[in-house]
Amino acid sequence: MNVLLIGSGGREHALAWKLAQSPQLGKLYAAPGNPGIAKHAKCIALDVADHGAVVDFCRKYEIGLVIVGPEAPLVAGIADALAAAGINVFGPSAEAAQLEGSKGFTKELCDRNSIPTAAWQRFNNAPKAKAYLRQVGAPIVIKADGLAAGKGVTVAETLEEAFAAVEDCFEGAFGDAGAEVVIEEKLIGEEASCFFICDGTTALPFGTAQDHKAVGEGDTGPNTGGMGAYSPAPVMTPDMSARVLREIVEPSLRGMAEMGAPFTGVLFAGLMITEQGPKLIEYNVRFGDPECQVLMMRLDADLLSLLAAAAEGRLMDVSADWRDEAALTVVMAAKGYPGTPEKGSAIGGIDEAGSVAGVQIFHAGTALEGDRLLAAGGRVLNVTALGASVTTARDAAYSAVDKIDWPGGFCRRDIGWRAVAREAKG
Ligand code: AMP
Ligand code: GLY
Repeated sequence: MNVLLIGSGGREHALAWKLAQSPQLGKLYAAPGNPGIAKHAKCIALDVADHGAVVDFCRKYEIGLVIVGPEAPLVAGIADALAAAGINVFGPSAEAAQLEGSKGFTKELCDRNSIPTAAWQRFNNAPKAKAYLRQVGAPIVIKADGLAAGKGVTVAETLEEAFAAVEDCFEGAFGDAGAEVVIEEKLIGEEASCFFICDGTTALPFGTAQDHKAVGEGDTGPNTGGMGAYSPAPVMTPDMSARVLREIVEPSLRGMAEMGAPFTGVLFAGLMITEQGPKLIEYNVRFGDPECQVLMMRLDADLLSLLAAAAEGRLMDVSADWRDEAALTVVMAAKGYPGTPEKGSAIGGIDEAGSVAGVQIFHAGTALEGDRLLAAGGRVLNVTALGASVTTARDAAYSAVDKIDWPGGFCRRDIGWRAVAREAKG
């Protein structure tokens, strides 16, 4: 089967690496791809915002499955255009992608289907939002309703912070995404991310992970897209995973089908494991980046067959095996990230780092100039390792990091610290 993979980050490199191992794979194309993906796929310049052009490409190159990595093309309706043209696609319709595209949409789905989540209210103007804040007090969480590249959330410890966050939203700090604001109760517990591949009616559990969003060690400093991750998430015991499926994910799929927007693709549930049980913080409609990188290291099954089964509504008939080992990824970012990253610095030692046992280096934001590898983004490399425990995986990942010669980059040295501390206690 010929496959078109849409995206250009470390997530897509990990997907391409795993797809390339499939005996079912014919030719793999990536739009636009990156220098790491180019080892497994033919990278093509295709304007993915031009749905007609994507459909034409798929017809011409006999694409049997389109896999969409990032959320933006999904929210823009690329899956609808492909489905209307009779082309199989792994990824939700624009309507179903509102699970990520609108916080209020997801909250309403939770309310209609008794799905456990933080208590909430939605506002379209600052005075009403502030009056509500005065009533409920702090701590409290303020969210821009729409897609704000992970930056639209403030966990406010004081009312002043909460007021400032509301003002930012309505003054346009997040553009249209901030035209409405969701205010919700602060949940207390340990966070975990759970992944499910879905075919509209069936959800197949697809691994768990924990990420580190803050740029600085000890989880301090501004939030990023993610500075590292590990899998599995220790809080997700088999019992807790079963509860998440039963209490959160299955009712969500039923609710989406009932509203005529069945969900196909990856459902990424961001959860808080509270004393009362699992509660939904948010959904994303795609794999996490860098969570996908650790999931792909642990998946012991044919990714292409699984994603094709999801796209074709056949998940009832399949299962996925996972390695017992843990996986951990360290994100190497260009200096300046998450502000403006310095571009164009040279990266050396990649091959040596990639030869450390159990290690895969995924490219996130790189470019080739002749045979020189250069930084071309904020998050640049994902140094990823498999090991008998999170601690072993971490040691392998950092020994590979130490072989990379890149003065223009940095990484956190403490990825996985909670799990490592847990393992040290036994
Ligand atoms: P989100 O973009 O919705 O994933 O939120 C970003 C981060 O904010 C989450 O990963 C949590 O750490 C935190 N967060 C969001 N909502 C809540 C909440 N209701 N209670 C506590 N923390 C939250
Ligand atoms: N790493 C978080 C995300 O992909 O949303």
